[in-house]
Amino acid sequence: MKKELTICIAGAGSTYTPGIIQSILSRYEQFPVSEIRLYDVSHERNHRTYVIVEYLTKRLNQNIKLVETTDPQKAFTGVDYIFSQIRAGGLKMRELDEKIPLKFELVGQEACGVGGFAYGMRSMVQFLDLVEECVKYAPQAWILNYTNPETIISEAVRRKFPDAKIINACDMAISISKTIAEIYDYNHDAWVPTYYGLNHFGWFTEIYDKELDKDVLGDIIERAQKDGVWLNEGDDSWKETYVNLGRMIQYFPDSIPNNYLEYYLMGDEKVAKANPNYTRANYVMDNRDNYMENFYQAILSGSKKELETYSMENEIHGQYITDIAISLHCDLNERFNLIVPNHGAIPNLRADAVVEVPSYVSAKGVEPISLREDISDFHKGLMEAQVASEKLWVDAFFEQSYLKALQAFTLNQTVPSMLVAKKVLDELIEANKGYWPELK
Ligand code: G6P
Ligand code: MN
Repeated sequence: MKKELTICIAGAGSTYTPGIIQSILSRYEQFPVSEIRLYDVSHERNHRTYVIVEYLTKRLNQNIKLVETTDPQKAFTGVDYIFSQIRAGGLKMRELDEKIPLKFELVGQEACGVGGFAYGMRSMVQFLDLVEECVKYAPQAWILNYTNPETIISEAVRRKFPDAKIINACDMAISISKTIAEIYDYNHDAWVPTYYGLNHFGWFTEIYDKELDKDVLGDIIERAQKDGVWLNEGDDSWKETYVNLGRMIQYFPDSIPNNYLEYYLMGDEKVAKANPNYTRANYVMDNRDNYMENFYQAILSGSKKELETYSMENEIHGQYITDIAISLHCDLNERFNLIVPNHGAIPNLRADAVVEVPSYVSAKGVEPISLREDISDFHKGLMEAQVASEKLWVDAFFEQSYLKALQAFTLNQTVPSMLVAKKVLDELIEANKGYWPELK
């Protein structure tokens, strides 16, 4: 009989938690979890998740010990794995990350541009505290991390805790390849994609299809160039994102880009089309967060009929991180796109960058795969500027340096000048009082 596992979800108040838990519990054979600790700094949001997960596990006859706590010692002591996905400042601060840059006609996005940096500063403060607690109370445990913005977080963690057992992952690249496979009618399970870049900033340059025994990237690019990329399901903002992904392919038909590159390659249009009074954060609050709240209320009021209409899907977001955990736990040596120190994986990019590349995951941990070939000057130039800008931002955090912060903003490819960089930085400093360290 395999040893039963105890896991902790850090940032359990997230709307993604029930989906992650459903993914984990559906894989009991390989990943026999018998106890889940829900940990969040907000008791209210943590409790909401607790009630929903308790209800869902009962409905599905899943036998599980569920614990809720705001105490890190109780959360982490003795656990085998920690799944982290914290959002420092919550959706209310995400709203400001998106709206403040827009006032200056800059891209307003939770993970890209100066809004992403603002979030990154809050995230570094809270995530490094979290890692410290994990290392203290659960030195044996692996941390499987989804916390954004991932490159900044990974860079900060490796500087402060170079030996931490952490795997940084993002579901975007696999979401894109799955979506593309569906649109063009391929079997995604047969694909071995080559993807490289930084987090939310990369490209597919080959898609080897094992069944067809060939690279299908060229065929897909040809079809995308001719017809564009159209998503049949999802909300309007994701549909627009895929239209833009198609447009980027039409301009640069040598690769399939990560959709987030739209904020760097067509930021002017993104800004012009944005509604400065209603951004993605508002949409998420009004929809995903509200749905969870209504579900919670329905459980409290016990209306059986209404409750049947609610579910919290086991989607790619949850499945991906579960697959990584299983590859680690069962020593499967499967391949995932992960966020790792470069050290030659992309040969002609600076070695100390944090990149996103295919990597094998086994009991030993993560082994990144080297591309072995140099990348193009176009991709390299875009990445080098982004890496330097992100590194300056992480320096600004550790050194509490206003100068480095201003340099990071000025260098960022979504910012046109030092003049606007300073204005938006000063306003973000004000808005993030209590979250950011003081920059001197
Ligand atoms: C993808 C990205 C995440 C990001 C999320 C935003 O999953 O990989 O990093 O946070 O999209 O989705 P949302 O619906 O909250 O805008
Ligand atoms: Mn992501």
